[in-house]
Amino acid sequence: MKKIAMAVLMGALVIACSKKTEDAGVETNVMLEEPVAAAEAGPAQPEGLTLIQGMDCLTCHKEDAALIGPSYKEVAAKYTDADKDLLAKHIIEGSVGVWGQIPMTPHAGLSQENAIKMVEYILTLK
Ligand code: HEC
Repeated sequence: MKKIAMAVLMGALVIACSKKTEDAGVETNVMLEEPVAAAEAGPAQPEGLTLIQGMDCLTCHKEDAALIGPSYKEVAAKYTDADKDLLAKHIIEGSVGVWGQIPMTPHAGLSQENAIKMVEYILTLK
């Protein structure tokens, strides 16, 4: 009778111990992975892309296929960093006749600074 009780107790101890180790393992993993994941989700996306996603740009432009306007890859292939001011001006004031007869609507509320950030992102898509 005593022997059986001891065996049950030992069994319970073994289970309790192995459970503890498992838990500790999971906790350590979470501690290691969380800061890395946060860093990846944070500044990885360029600010210009965030601005583009926040406006109407993507209703007329896609990254790699012409829609109503040229694809951003076509724009990147046609221009260099020296054209940043011109492109920002076209986004703010609107444009027609460069790519065809369909006009780009003006974005009067957009600041020059943010338009430049959008252009800088577009020009990275070469
Ligand atoms: C109503 C549709 C439409 C919207 C919305 C739109 N575009 Fe355009 N975009 C066009 C068209 C059409 C052209 C080609 C204009 C031309 O031929 O002069 C163009 C041209 C461009 C060009 C190239 C300009 C040049 O001089 O070659 C850039 C850069 C651009 N768009 C960025 C943007 C960004 C950034 C936004 C959002 C703020 C935006 N577009 C919103 C239709 C649009």
